[in-house]
Amino acid sequence: MSCLPIGVNQIEIQRGLTTSATAIFVPFTTQELFQDGEALYYGINAVSSNMIMVDRKRLKNPNGLILGTPGSGKSFSAKREMTNAFLVTQDDIIICDPEGEYYPLVQALHGQVIRVSPNSTDYVNPMDINLNYSEDESPVSLKADFILSLCELIIGGKSGLEPVEKTIIDRCVRLVYQEYLQNPAEDNMPILEDLYTCILKQEEPEAKRIATALEIYVKGSLNVFNHRTNVDISNRLVCFDIKELGKQLKKIGMLVVQDQVWNRVTVNRAMHTAKATRYYMDEFHWARRSVA
Ligand SMILES: Nc1ncnc2c1ncn2[C@@H]1O[C@H](COP(=O)(O)OP(=O)(O)O)[C@@H](O)[C@H]1O
Ligand SMILES: [Mg+2]
Repeated sequence: MSCLPIGVNQIEIQRGLTTSATAIFVPFTTQELFQDGEALYYGINAVSSNMIMVDRKRLKNPNGLILGTPGSGKSFSAKREMTNAFLVTQDDIIICDPEGEYYPLVQALHGQVIRVSPNSTDYVNPMDINLNYSEDESPVSLKADFILSLCELIIGGKSGLEPVEKTIIDRCVRLVYQEYLQNPAEDNMPILEDLYTCILKQEEPEAKRIATALEIYVKGSLNVFNHRTNVDISNRLVCFDIKELGKQLKKIGMLVVQDQVWNRVTVNRAMHTAKATRYYMDEFHWARRSVA
């Protein structure tokens, strides 16, 4: 009678699992992470076999790190996550790709691949500035800070740049951008050569030293970064392929890419929408000096 769908229960037992029976399942150690909304797939919970769905922007800290032994699928897992984010969210995705392995995916999603190399004609200008570059400080101050890091990487020996050298570079950066700010048209965007010329004009003997160190990046064989940007860096999905950059240029390349990421972050932030910027950096141990 109790089985029939007539709503009569003649059995007095109400629960299939009593307290004493439940007790054998203790402790309940699985921690579930299953969010809704723009949550992305992050795998299967090894204990409970439930799916892990997370919207990283809603966690306490949205940053992430993928660790693993070589060949264990770190890059693959990043590609999977990017594809998921590309389809589920409106966010921009920028990739720094030192192994040249992301372009098939980026091309399939109609993103922009930028090959930064001495033999390529894709150029990214490290002097690019956008006037939203910083909300608190003046954009030029923050840019000057970036150019200093760049010069430190290029010129700085073991002990880094001397205080006098820093002053000269900072002064010249401001002078160079002053001209641009008076008429902020794209054709007026300064390049490294403008900075080089300005440094040469300074009177201090240290200026000569800096200019000579910069020369190879302006007139010499490492002049990849002495051009105005000629690629679409505003695509929703951008991949900077820096595989062909030699050892000399790789760290500088990573620093320049990071600066482009910062440009994009500030643009997105100034729009005050929910759109975030996701930056993926493969083989990021290579950047340890440029990050410091
Ligand atoms: N989930 C997976 N299923 C099938 N093959 C995978 C998976 N993850 C990675 N691979 C393959 O394993 C190889 C190494 O992966 P990769 O992501 O390049 O490793 P890592 O970046 O950790 O060195 C690649 O050929 C990749 O296609
Ligand atoms: Mg890899």
